[in-house]
Amino acid sequence: MDNKEEEKETSDYFQHNGIPFISPLLSIEHFEWVKDFKMDQDTVFIITYPKSGTTWMQQITSLILANGNIDSVKDKVLYERAPWVEYVVFIPNCKDSQLITSHLNYHMAPNALKNKIGKIIYVARNPKDVTVSFYHYHKFSNFLKKPKDFQHFLEQFVEGNVFYGSWFDHIREWYSHKDELNMMFVTYEDMQKDLRSMIEKVAIFLNKKLDGKTLESIMDHCTFKFMKENPASNYQDALQMFNTDCGSFYRKGVVGDWKNYFLVSQNEWFDSIYQERMADFPVKFY
Ligand code: A3P
Repeated sequence: MDNKEEEKETSDYFQHNGIPFISPLLSIEHFEWVKDFKMDQDTVFIITYPKSGTTWMQQITSLILANGNIDSVKDKVLYERAPWVEYVVFIPNCKDSQLITSHLNYHMAPNALKNKIGKIIYVARNPKDVTVSFYHYHKFSNFLKKPKDFQHFLEQFVEGNVFYGSWFDHIREWYSHKDELNMMFVTYEDMQKDLRSMIEKVAIFLNKKLDGKTLESIMDHCTFKFMKENPASNYQDALQMFNTDCGSFYRKGVVGDWKNYFLVSQNEWFDSIYQERMADFPVKFY
């Protein structure tokens, strides 16, 4: 089967503001609704480009917000604990959530956030690791176009011709508005380096006090192994969305796996694009 036929079978993509989205999970009508979404100061948004550590931050934040009562939330599936505002199903099911997730670019985000109502935790990740993780996710998901090969996917990623568009635009847009928002900007790499400090910092940002026992318990619930094996975080109830013969949501969970995928020439090409587009960007990824 050639790539075109596969695209037809697996995807119903549409473009909005030059960004590829998928129907019926997302819709232009719902994007308009998102802009006027009302929230209060206690609402917390986790905002990421896909494959940057969203699920990990959902777990951390939802457990911090449980005020020490981890048992009260730990068995609820993550996509209900922290639903995506842009999914059309958000309206009937999850209107009252205090913790919300989004992959949308800044210009599509709720106006309330831009008026400093609610808090934002933005998680960024080394774009090379994002590319590799997203490549595998495209192979693993039943609702995304199957990539022809890694080279083709890398080109599509750099052009922003993938689900949710350009990584470069996403991070630049959000980062450039950082100081106008109630935003905490963190990286996946820093979460890996020192998870304990990251949990403490997120708790301070959310004005939550964590006693030692709660902090230890949150740490235990946020390891890659625990989240991979736990039904509330491993998407085992949504397996119709995924082709488990082609991978797993919890794939490797490491920093630097890109080195196993990028050829020297691909790496040099990517670095030259990065230099062109991100040379002045103050956050460095390692
Ligand atoms: P890999 O594909 O590199 O393994 P998102 O949640 O934004 O979709 O990101 C998914 C990526 O985060 C995957 O990366 C996944 O393995 C990783 N991840 C999820 N939970 C993690 C955890 N507890 N520790 C480390 N990495 C985690």
